Amino acid sequence: MWAGRFAKALDSKADDFNSSIRFDCKMYKQDIMGSIAHAEMLAAQKIISAEDCDAIVDGLSGILEDLNSGALSFDMACEDIHMFVEAELTRRIGDAGKRLHTARSRNDQVAVDVRMYLRDEAQDIVALLKQLISDITDQAEACRGVIVPGYTHLQRAQPITFGHHLMAYAMMFLRDISRLEDAAKRMNYSPLGSCALAGTTYHTNRRMEAEKLHFDGITLNSIDGVSDRDFCVEFISAFSLIMMHLSRFSEEIILWSSWEFRYVELDDAYTTGSSIMPQKKNSDMAELVRGKTGRVYGDLITLLTLMKGLPLAYNKDMQEDKEALFDAIETVKMCLDVFAPMIRTMKVKPDNMYKAAQEGFINATDLADYLTREGMPFRAAYKIVGEIVAECIQKHCVLDNLPMEDYRAHTDLFEEDLYEEISLETCVGKRISEGGTSPESVDAQIVYVRGELSK
Ligand code: ARG
Repeated sequence: MWAGRFAKALDSKADDFNSSIRFDCKMYKQDIMGSIAHAEMLAAQKIISAEDCDAIVDGLSGILEDLNSGALSFDMACEDIHMFVEAELTRRIGDAGKRLHTARSRNDQVAVDVRMYLRDEAQDIVALLKQLISDITDQAEACRGVIVPGYTHLQRAQPITFGHHLMAYAMMFLRDISRLEDAAKRMNYSPLGSCALAGTTYHTNRRMEAEKLHFDGITLNSIDGVSDRDFCVEFISAFSLIMMHLSRFSEEIILWSSWEFRYVELDDAYTTGSSIMPQKKNSDMAELVRGKTGRVYGDLITLLTLMKGLPLAYNKDMQEDKEALFDAIETVKMCLDVFAPMIRTMKVKPDNMYKAAQEGFINATDLADYLTREGMPFRAAYKIVGEIVAECIQKHCVLDNLPMEDYRAHTDLFEEDLYEEISLETCVGKRISEGGTSPESVDAQIVYVRGELSK
């Protein structure tokens, strides 16, 4: 390509080292669409002739079709996808192909390609998140009244409904969607026409190109246009949060599936056995999702580190953005793809959850609230209930079956109705504060989330 300036060809190892086609070929569609828009703009501005433009557009459309069908494969001897498309075009249509690169540089070309690629992929990821949220919501609806211990510090804390617990994840994934949509909005400005770094002397129409490529506008500083990769960092950050949420959920599913908990059982289709221990049923999918989270965090650190020392404008270092970005995209998609059906087919075991909720004094707060309602200050009630719990532990009983006379030895504010007041059903049923754990509150959350999904 730069034969004019150079006396000899690139060393073959240096050539391999320098080349990016083995990964940036993923963006062939975006590269070709960008080139078609560019050719049409050049013709509209009379920078190239209408005939040359027609030949270029036909040639590029043919290349796109042949790459889609597999009739044409990438030439790995080319440095990158941009060089490949241009060389193939010129091979097909001759001299007109050589006019395509007027008023353009690979620097603005790659910047526009990555944005369009990420725009498409982000849409796919939003669709996968919506499916997952919908599966979580269906499970939550079925478990709106299923009582389970809620935990803090992984110690049984207060009774909650399992539907409520599941809906916490629906809220996280809903925020993930809004983060992707937010980042997509900020990214959707076309850098095309920034050229190498300084813009161009040709009378181009950047806004026309931007419109053809469905951008909301153009970037307003050509140096920033070609050197900005903030949007990659923003998206990988959003992907990292998706993975963090999936990983926390995975961790819980792994715990819940253990023989110690037995709160849920994963479908055989999403578990594996052991090669030696015949009794085993392992939550490999959840474990792998948890493991792959580290990979996406690594991709984020790659990008941040890659960019931190780069002087303006383009530097070849930036070629390294794509493998990290593509890896993060692929990983998130793969994880969401198995996670949603794993949740959909997960069997919940309400009896085991209820049994666990009956142990661990998780209605102690409600007992303190009982005394507070009778007029005792909360701190005093808290202390008395603490003493009662200690007494129960000594007597090997729980709050629900400690005899009345033992209660009244602490304070005569206790009456028979306390047993009803501290039943697990009352504990969750009365937590009607907005966003609380009562079945009615879970219903309201489900209505809200389904409303958001249908927007
Ligand atoms: N393959 C390059 C990349 O991915 C394209 C831009 C190359 N520009 C340049 N001046 N070498 O970053």
